[in-house]
Amino acid sequence: MTDDATDIAVALGERSYAIHIEDGSLDRAGALLKPFARRNRFIVVTDAHVAATQSGRLGTALDAAGIASTIEILPAGEATKSWANLERVTDFLLDQGVERNDTVIALGGGVIGDLVGFAASMLKRGCNFVQIPTTLLSQVDSSVGGKTAINSRAGKNLIGAFYQPVHVLIDPTTLDTLSPREVRAGYAEVVKYGLIDDPDFFDWCEANGPALLEGDSSARRFAIARSVAAKARIVAEDERETTGRRALLNLGHTFGHALEAETGFSDRLLHGEAVATGMALAFRFSAAAGLCDAAVAARVTAHLEAAGLPATLAAAHVDASGAALVAHMLHDKKMEGGRLPFLLARGIGQTFLEKQVDLTTVERFLDQERG
Ligand code: GLY
Repeated sequence: MTDDATDIAVALGERSYAIHIEDGSLDRAGALLKPFARRNRFIVVTDAHVAATQSGRLGTALDAAGIASTIEILPAGEATKSWANLERVTDFLLDQGVERNDTVIALGGGVIGDLVGFAASMLKRGCNFVQIPTTLLSQVDSSVGGKTAINSRAGKNLIGAFYQPVHVLIDPTTLDTLSPREVRAGYAEVVKYGLIDDPDFFDWCEANGPALLEGDSSARRFAIARSVAAKARIVAEDERETTGRRALLNLGHTFGHALEAETGFSDRLLHGEAVATGMALAFRFSAAAGLCDAAVAARVTAHLEAAGLPATLAAAHVDASGAALVAHMLHDKKMEGGRLPFLLARGIGQTFLEKQVDLTTVERFLDQERG
């Protein structure tokens, strides 16, 4: 372990686990993950992009520690989170003779983490899995907290389970092979933690976001560790999103979901870009409702734009009416008894859950935003 390594605990009783964050840790994964290698082997699932850039590093590290491994490589992209690929992964794992005590490694971004985590949750009624997230978005959000899922005809992430990994290994150097656009999209989820309940971190983002986006390793490590610590704290308080605490992590996601649905959940608007626009909309909606100062909403918008993220409908290339966007929201899995909870804000770091939002007001607001 180097001086720059950080370990963060997710405190969930007997399902507690650690998140290890360290530059270059993927190259030491054999030594770091050996305690989880039952029968001295791992079964790795990844996607074609990550296989080209990172899986060699993992394979070499496991070899060096004398750990055998086999790997399944799936197509890259959101379409991989399907029933067909869930079957492919579970069949592969069964063909490998996986036992409940064996550990499966999900090496990749959110798609691989969600799919492999879900496969692990059902295989032999639950086998161990380790997350090695390789995108900024998965490092600061989806690899932590045990949400696993696939998509279905009816929508995204509608079929899944809460199933915690036994360990998360984060090597920020994996971000070096991502496109700047993908790093920016992940950065939206970093900013989210400042906006939820950590105004000092939002200040930090304003000062250091540009360095992080340019690949500054210490800014990157700091932001990942601060984000993961925030997520670990929230997950420990409300693992299954029952008290409203974990729902705060959905800031920007209700508006963002509508934008993603409008753009066909495609590369036209990445999830993090939709979340960035959604967070800016949530703050401007809060300002329009008199909940927070317009200057606060303008500050949030300005930071997201300075980071190269879309913060308006126009910048997200969405020209749908308020009614059309609200119609998408009605398919959101967060609907509760016919009402849709919204995350609104009284200020930076003062996000709260509001269950009584009138959707006609949202529709009018979006029409004004459309201009
Ligand atoms: N990505 C939101 C959550 O994990 O709850």
